[in-house]
Amino acid sequence: MKLYELTDEERINYLLENNYINNEQTDLLKSRKPLSEELADSLSENQVGMFGLPYGFATDFTVNNKDYLVPMSIEEPSVIAAASNGAKRIRNSGGFTVTVSDHIVYGQIVLESVKSDTLDLLKQKHDDIIQFADDAHPSLIKRGGGVRSLEFHRYDKMIELEIGVDTVDAMGANIVNTILEKTSKEVSTITGRDVLCSILSNSGAGQLVTVRADVDFDQLQTKAMPGSEVAERIVMLTKFAQVSVKRAVTHNKGIMNGVDAVVLATGNDFRAQEAATQEFAGQTGVYQPLSNWKIIDGKLHGELVMPVEIGSVGGAISSMPMAQLSLAIMKISDSKELRAVIGAVGLANNLSALRALVTTGIQAGHMSLQSKSLAVTAGAIGNEIGLVAKELNKQKNYSLDNAKKVLKELRNK
Ligand code: MEV
Repeated sequence: MKLYELTDEERINYLLENNYINNEQTDLLKSRKPLSEELADSLSENQVGMFGLPYGFATDFTVNNKDYLVPMSIEEPSVIAAASNGAKRIRNSGGFTVTVSDHIVYGQIVLESVKSDTLDLLKQKHDDIIQFADDAHPSLIKRGGGVRSLEFHRYDKMIELEIGVDTVDAMGANIVNTILEKTSKEVSTITGRDVLCSILSNSGAGQLVTVRADVDFDQLQTKAMPGSEVAERIVMLTKFAQVSVKRAVTHNKGIMNGVDAVVLATGNDFRAQEAATQEFAGQTGVYQPLSNWKIIDGKLHGELVMPVEIGSVGGAISSMPMAQLSLAIMKISDSKELRAVIGAVGLANNLSALRALVTTGIQAGHMSLQSKSLAVTAGAIGNEIGLVAKELNKQKNYSLDNAKKVLKELRNK
């Protein structure tokens, strides 16, 4: 069964019949109302409506030997298709192998106008400060989390306390900020110095994900090009991204197409994800592509290392029914598993983009998927949308003027 050939109603029923979602979640999808008025009002200030984004799912993901449908929320028509396309080629070659680091969120307490003895005072109280920080959030300790590191860094007249906290399944911003604000009072008392600020760091250094996939050459071939050549060209294009920042940023945009769409669909903080990604891509001082592709033992080997800065509980994730629905569709048990899937989606989108770029180019696939939204922009409604899109794909002429012409001709028939 080709899910993309079904109607949206049929796809919802597919999710229900295959136990991805329950009756209540089915009603939620069919209602087309992702948030109640009360919830929308409680999540934002000066709320006057809701901003819609399409919500769908990618297919064919096998990550660490488990199969997934992956919910994605995105307005770019080719992204879900690209994720599924890349995932299928990788599934047919054995699937994704993903390793996920512990979930450490860093926080900073910054002291200003420090004296010559301030650092020593802090060092003497190293263990007491950790204990104080742990006591600041007892429920985190009960869940198996807590402070894992404390370092002091001096910058001229300022000292930074860098605290690493395992926030378990929560994204951790609120947890860490609570810990920091309480701890900063103690730090001020110990040192007699003013705390300039205390805030979590959105660095993803403690939240890395490594995704690997070996792709068989026969999964890469096109009608016009053997798979081995496609693989070599993908390797070459990746090398180009390593020396061209302008290409690297687009290479990474293809990865973020998939990553951000899942981050959004799970109610996570996409700004945090983006900020952490920027830090990681630029960490050597030269902005780099997040993934690398090489030929190893007659296969195309892909490796993506990046921070995935999300949670699977807490905040908007727990309160937004669509986020809960996304976790249900993936049958996610914890944040580590979600981070693994998100990383895999990044590599799938990357493979799909690179394969298209080094063979046919992206516009053919891109525009045929965009034809429906072009039809809507031209004024098509109801079943006109599909008919106009079909005709645009047949003519391979995707200008808005042509879409308007096709619609006019259709209505005159
Ligand atoms: C388009 O949204 C993403 C691509 O530009 C990514 C890439 O060039 O690798 C196709």
